[in-house]
Amino acid sequence: MNLLEIPYKKSETEIINSRPKITIIGLGKMGIPLCLVFTNAGYGVRGYDISQNLVEALNKGETTLKNEPLVNERLRAAILKKKFKAFTDLKKAVYGSSFIIIIIPIITDINGQTDLSSLNEIYLKLEQYIDPGAIIIQESTLPPGITSGPLRDILQANGKKSGVDFGLVFAPERTFSGRVIEDIEARYPKLVGGDTKNASVLVQKLYEQVCEKGVVVLSNATTAEAVKTFKGAYRDANIAIANQLAILSDLYKVDILEIIEAANTEPFSHIHKPGIGVGGHCIPIYPKFLINQALEKSSDAAVFQTARDMNDFMVKYCIEVLKKTVNKLSGAKILILGLAYRGGVKEARYSPTLRLIPQLRSEGAIIKLHDPMFNETEVDQLFGAATNENSISGNINLYDIVIIVTDHEEFYNTEEFYADKIVFDGRYVLKPEKSKKFKLLQPGRLFVID
Ligand SMILES: NC(=O)c1ccc[n+]([C@@H]2O[C@H](COP(=O)([O-])OP(=O)(O)OC[C@H]3O[C@@H](n4cnc5c(N)ncnc54)[C@H](O)[C@@H]3O)[C@@H](O)[C@H]2O)c1
Repeated sequence: MNLLEIPYKKSETEIINSRPKITIIGLGKMGIPLCLVFTNAGYGVRGYDISQNLVEALNKGETTLKNEPLVNERLRAAILKKKFKAFTDLKKAVYGSSFIIIIIPIITDINGQTDLSSLNEIYLKLEQYIDPGAIIIQESTLPPGITSGPLRDILQANGKKSGVDFGLVFAPERTFSGRVIEDIEARYPKLVGGDTKNASVLVQKLYEQVCEKGVVVLSNATTAEAVKTFKGAYRDANIAIANQLAILSDLYKVDILEIIEAANTEPFSHIHKPGIGVGGHCIPIYPKFLINQALEKSSDAAVFQTARDMNDFMVKYCIEVLKKTVNKLSGAKILILGLAYRGGVKEARYSPTLRLIPQLRSEGAIIKLHDPMFNETEVDQLFGAATNENSISGNINLYDIVIIVTDHEEFYNTEEFYADKIVFDGRYVLKPEKSKKFKLLQPGRLFVID
């Protein structure tokens, strides 16, 4: 069905009601729940991923998203009703599909440059494989201007025209791991910005079927890209302000949490929580997208660069605080709790732990790491043999210092383990009133906890 052949006998709503086929590219923490939002609404969905193991598991109804509500039961139901099939062959996955949604991670390379290579490869193939009139919905976050710039150029390279031979729309995923299906279906409106109006309307109608909060249609794809990246950079900068205020609180010997709580009783104040650093493949990346583009255009995004530097500095802050507390870290036995960038999520990208461990080792400290989300092989592959510590409690007496990087639930209420130790709690999971038997250090509260 060529959705773009309008005027069409049917209205856009009727077209969508006929449940055209959907392909989703990238079957990760965001892609799989999105597939299941559509299968649950009666659409036939094909998935495509480069991971053979993942595709095989999904086709058997198995996922690793254990903490993602509704995913496991919906996947089994979709497979039973033959509404979902995953592929490692892109041509087969997009065959006969009217909507193709792309939700693979876009990250920065080791030099901090935005890496669009795998996305470009996908678009080069889609240019050849998609049916006439298919609509591509770009959902992974991109620097502003990429959808209606280089990506459209790839699709138009052989004479095809956007809005006629294919549709192209940017519609960012705005979700939080651990409640993805609820976020899409009930929590936020979907944002849609089309390269052409006709594609934008069809995507609006599609998402109106599954988003209770409706769809916000933006002027164009670049605006939609800017909404998502600007919001991410805004959040990173706000966390940087909170971290700066925590460091100042140490100078004034006041309690940052008490101050934030009191300040935020005013409606104009939304001071965020400080912490040991910002990780994941969203918040630390989006300001980099903007910084890189500003530099390319002979401008700058100095506020966001300063914010990035501030947030990255918090690992150094932790090390400096520990050095002042114990004089030297050489030979100290340190247990790090948490590799994930936030609690309850198996995601290590840009985690503060990735920088903390090498920096502590360069100080001569002896490091072990425990994270209930990661197994021994995964930890040792990242940090070298015998870095993994299997449990938080088992060998706790072997350590002088504990550093809490991740607010995993397992690390809450663990005060009884820490007797006689120094504990740097980078996420405020421990309560000062229960820390009488150990030395508790938290950012911005160094001189107020006895
Ligand atoms: N994770 C979040 O909290 C979140 C929130 C909002 C938006 N997003 C956006 O969603 C994107 C994806 O996030 P995620 O958490 O699902 O990532 P993820 O790492 O959990 O999953 C990505 C999946 O894409 C697959 N993949 C990678 N390259 C591919 C390629 N070239 N072709 C096909 N498949 C490929 C991987 O094998 C993996 O299964 C993010 O980069 C971001 O733009 C994420």
